This record gives sequence, C-alpha cells and structure tokens, in this order.
Amino acid sequence: MIIAPKTRGFICTTAHPEGCAANIQSQIDYVKSQPEFSDAPKKVIVIGASTGYGLASRIVSAFGGGASTIGVFFEKPGTERKTGSAGWYNSVAFENAAREAGLYAKSFNGDAFSDEMKDEVIATIKEDLGEIDCIVYSLASPRRTDPIDGETYKSVLKPIGESYSQKNLNTDTGEVNSVTIEPAEGDEIAHTVKVMGGEDWELWLAALKDAGVLADGFTTVAYSYIGPELTFPIYTNGTIGKAKEHLEESAARMNEEFGGGTAYVSVNKALVTQASSAIPVVPLYISLLYKVMKEAGNHEGCIEQIQRLFSDHLASGGSPELDEQGRIRIDDWEMGEEVQAAVHEAWDNVTTENLSELSDFSGYKSEFLRLFGFGLEGVDYEAETDPERNLPSGN
Ligand code: NAI
Repeated sequence: MIIAPKTRGFICTTAHPEGCAANIQSQIDYVKSQPEFSDAPKKVIVIGASTGYGLASRIVSAFGGGASTIGVFFEKPGTERKTGSAGWYNSVAFENAAREAGLYAKSFNGDAFSDEMKDEVIATIKEDLGEIDCIVYSLASPRRTDPIDGETYKSVLKPIGESYSQKNLNTDTGEVNSVTIEPAEGDEIAHTVKVMGGEDWELWLAALKDAGVLADGFTTVAYSYIGPELTFPIYTNGTIGKAKEHLEESAARMNEEFGGGTAYVSVNKALVTQASSAIPVVPLYISLLYKVMKEAGNHEGCIEQIQRLFSDHLASGGSPELDEQGRIRIDDWEMGEEVQAAVHEAWDNVTTENLSELSDFSGYKSEFLRLFGFGLEGVDYEAETDPERNLPSGN
C-alpha cells in the first residue's frame, strides 16, 4: 500500500516502516559519531523501548555501549491492510540493525505492568544473559491494570486544587488560543500516581532482584520532567507532577532497601514525543523552546539527550552528578536562565499571527510527523510499501 500520514489532533494513526527505519538509522549514526563511553553497561533492559526517550536509551546502550538489550513495549504490528504503530516499526528496524552489528537484541510486545511480562522477561534474562546491569524505565501510559488488585487505573493531565487557564496551541490549525483545564476530582490524583508513579518500577526491580538476575553494582533510571513555572499548574504541580514525586520516592526507597545497585531519576528536556504532544499547553511551550534553543545552538532531541545522560552520568566511569534533590539533570540547558528568559518573552507575545515568527511550529510539526516515519530524506513515500514487518527475534 501507499502509506501517508493520517493525523487526528495529537495522534497519527498511520506509520511508515521505511521512514521509521530511516529514523532509527539516523539515531544510530549520531551515536556512532560520538566518543566512546568510559564504562558502559553491557546488559540493558529498557521498559518502554519503542519510542521517545526509551528508544533513544536502547539505541545509545547498544550502539554507543555495545550492550545486549532487551526491549519491552506495547505496540501494534502491521497487517496486510493496516499499518502498524511507529514503535513497532522502530523496534523491527532497531533489532535488524543490532543483529547486523552482531549485538544481542530481543523484544517483548505486551503489557509491562503485568506479572506475566515480568516473568517472561526474567526467564529470557536467565536463559540468555544471566544478569542485567542497567534497567531503564521509560513508560508513558494512559492506564495501568494493577496486577495485585486487578483494577485498571487511568491517569489524567490536570491541575490540582484550582482550574488553570493558559495560552494553548491548536496543533491542527496553528491557532494560538487559550485553554482552561478544570482541576482533578475524586481519585484522579491517586489514580495518576498509580499509573505514572514508581510503583511498577519498584515491582520490576523487586522481581529482578528476587530472581537473582541483578548484577552487582547495577543502575536503574527513570525519567521525569520539571519545566518552567508557566507549566507548573499542568505539570509539576499537577496530577502528573504528583506521579513524578512518587517516582522520586520510589528511587529513594529502592536505594534504601535494595543495596547492590543504585536507582536514579533523570530530569529530561521537553521534547516532541507521542506522550508530550497529548499534554495541554506543552506543545506551544515546546515550539517556542525549540526556536530559542536552535538559535542558541544547544537544541537536542531524545538521542542527543540520552547520549549526554550516558556520557556524562551513567557511563562516565564515575558517579553521576546530582542536584540537591539527588536527581540527574539533563534538562540543564533547557532550564538555563537565558533560554528561559527568551522563551518567557516569546510566550507573552505569541499570537496566531506571529506564531511562525516567534516559534518553531514548523519544526514541531515536522518532528511530530517524523515520529511516525514521515518526512525523512531518502524514503520513497510514493512507493508501494509492505506494512507487515516482523521482529527478527520473533516475539
Ligand atoms: P513515548 O510515548 O514516546 O514512549 C512510551 C513508551 O512506553 C513506548 O515504548 C510504549 O510502547 C511504552 N508503553 C506504554 N504503555 C505500555 C505498557 N502498558 N506496556 C509496555 N510498554 C508500554 O514517551 P516519552 O515521551 O519517551 O516518555 C517516556 C518517559 O520520559 C515518561 O516517563 C515521561 O514522563 C518522561 N519524560 C518525557 C519528556 C518529554 O518531553 N517527552 C520530558 C521528560 C521526561
């Protein structure tokens, strides 16, 4: 079939296998162009490995550090008549490239929150790798079925206590308008913490530890975000912020209880991913941020961010540098004073009319499409393309 983008709001319901493969290749090329790590983990599991920050973590581990990788994700394979999800094609392309480079790579498509998935992955670690020295936890999900009480919890992106009104960008029309989001009600905060907090991260680590497959000196990292004050009500002080607080508490708990390894939370930069495009207000902030950081020459995407996470912190041969709260900060360039001052000024002035002048909305849109494999150089989008692609590892 001929595969074209079909977008609806913040989702694209099609994906291009060749485009996704080109995307993976350019990330691999970037990583290979960078200096070698001093001390990289060699057996890595990435939970949420198919898109965004988790995918970049898998690519950096494998092609930067030469690691064997296990990836866990929840994606849709393509069928004869329907395209698969981008994360599926990304993972097929990743595994193909890893195998070609002689690197071990296996993937598991299913629910990372379930006990069954944990058991399956642990059985594979035992059989193939013996133990694991790094666990990257990079899930972003709107719901989670708790394996203990069997209930399905949903996460929401809402302020807490009072409603929040702010400028907003309609990414379909390019209109800058304003949005009011009502505060979380009832159990919504607790349920968001259930889904996006650290409970499942802790369950993964406990399961790996109980199975005896955690290498001595292992590291585990999960990703968080802070951002500027103008998004505090919807992010840091909102329902998702509560979940991120819980993630930090989970890291502290694991560090106290487990021993033999260390858990970190890394605060990352705001970037266009499938998860971030669903957050109100954030796409406008990202469009303004991209413009400022590209002009300043310090813009990074997921792959550059994670490369820096490994080179400066996780694979540097020393201990990671931490902030006062004990977190790794690779959002440091985003949060730099000059960058934030410029973004704030643009934020105050931006309107529908001057959007293309003050922001990098065109960059935002093209990056969004690239997530689904569209708009990549060297890909023939007019060509008949087979949407059915299989993971070489067969899962
Ligand atoms: P994403 O949407 O690109 O990736 C989410 C991953 O989770 C995918 O691999 C998906 O398959 C997997 N997944 C979702 N539900 C699953 C399930 N039930 N079982 C197995 N896999 C499942 O998201 P993104 O943006 O890379 O986010 C990853 C982490 O990074 C999140 O914790 C997010 O809060 C954090 N982060 C994101 C930032 C951003 O601007 N995008 C900034 C800072 C942190």
